[in-house]
Amino acid sequence: MTNYSSFANGGITLIKPYQAGKPIEEVQRQLGLNDVIKLASNENPFGMGPKAKAAALACVENANLYPDSNGYYLKQKLQQKFSYNPNKITLGAGSNELINLLFAAFVNEKVNVVFPEYSFVVYPMETTVNGAQAKVIPLKDYNADLDAILEAIDENTRIVAFANPSNPIGTAISSKSMYEFLKKVPKQTLVVIDEAYNEFNSGDDTYQDSAKWTDEFENLVISRTFSKAYGLAGLRVGYMIANEEITSILNRLRAPFNVNIVALAAATAALDDEEFLQKTVNNNTKERARYEQFCKAHNLFMIPSKANFVAIDFKGYDAQKIADKLLHKGVIVRPLLGYKLKDILRVSIGTESENDRFFTTLEAILKEER
Ligand SMILES: Cc1ncc(COP(=O)(O)O)c(C=O)c1O
Repeated sequence: MTNYSSFANGGITLIKPYQAGKPIEEVQRQLGLNDVIKLASNENPFGMGPKAKAAALACVENANLYPDSNGYYLKQKLQQKFSYNPNKITLGAGSNELINLLFAAFVNEKVNVVFPEYSFVVYPMETTVNGAQAKVIPLKDYNADLDAILEAIDENTRIVAFANPSNPIGTAISSKSMYEFLKKVPKQTLVVIDEAYNEFNSGDDTYQDSAKWTDEFENLVISRTFSKAYGLAGLRVGYMIANEEITSILNRLRAPFNVNIVALAAATAALDDEEFLQKTVNNNTKERARYEQFCKAHNLFMIPSKANFVAIDFKGYDAQKIADKLLHKGVIVRPLLGYKLKDILRVSIGTESENDRFFTTLEAILKEER
């Protein structure tokens, strides 16, 4: 047979396919369970907000039409709500697409990319796909080590990428440290701050809207999504904010109708639903504190989280085994073997009752194990 893999561009054959969390239906089918909860993909436990849902349903009527290629109304709403300049916004089918586009535009075999260890898998994947060298920087106290990142940057570093809050660890860098860091990064190196979990990053009293810093730092690129706090993961919509030249490059590269018509309508309406956003964030903050209490009470180490998930370090225990047992009792969580973190489970924060179910199920498993 013809070896088609040998025809594939760049480093495509070197990467492993993305391993997504198991869908509820598959687990129900495989294990014969009918009451399964999924705390594995950091989705919004309340579904989509009522305003977004109404807009999406109304818009389905127009699904025979192509969407507005420039996403005019969504960009206007982003400007109205956050004062972002529409000329600095690129819309994508999820922020994942935008990260892919940015790497496709700027990364090649002549450059390197710097990111912290245990980063979101898309950064190493896209570095490899585009033939670049990855410089992976160990964490310090479970957080990105900004000094070590600065030291690793050389004249060939095209991108420094990190998520803030990070995934799958959940820690965050303060606004003050980030700002000091940005001042020191050379201008030929783009700094991508992936803020997929930005809305959950409460409790940082130095918090500032980093997208505003794109006026001051021409090499800064901010990535945001509607998949998490806004509850639109299945519709696929996100945005990137960067200087107008970078934005123009991304807009040339993206497919003309990359964000579908329903996603555009839902995201625009979601920005008007402050009540739903607050409900989501408040639940997360309250429930995250319950995870902390649970872990303390059961002698488990929870890495301090600023996101809508927690990483629990079972220190020496096989977290995959615990995840399997949870799965058989209808609770899907995310083991991090793919990240070579075999002791750690990542659990998305659910509603109060979903979290109760997780606590009682894990409690029973720990009793069996200990
Ligand atoms: C850190 C981080 N960035 C980006 C994404 C991509 O999100 P989406 O493509 O749904 O916007 C995720 C999704 O889990 C994430 O964890």
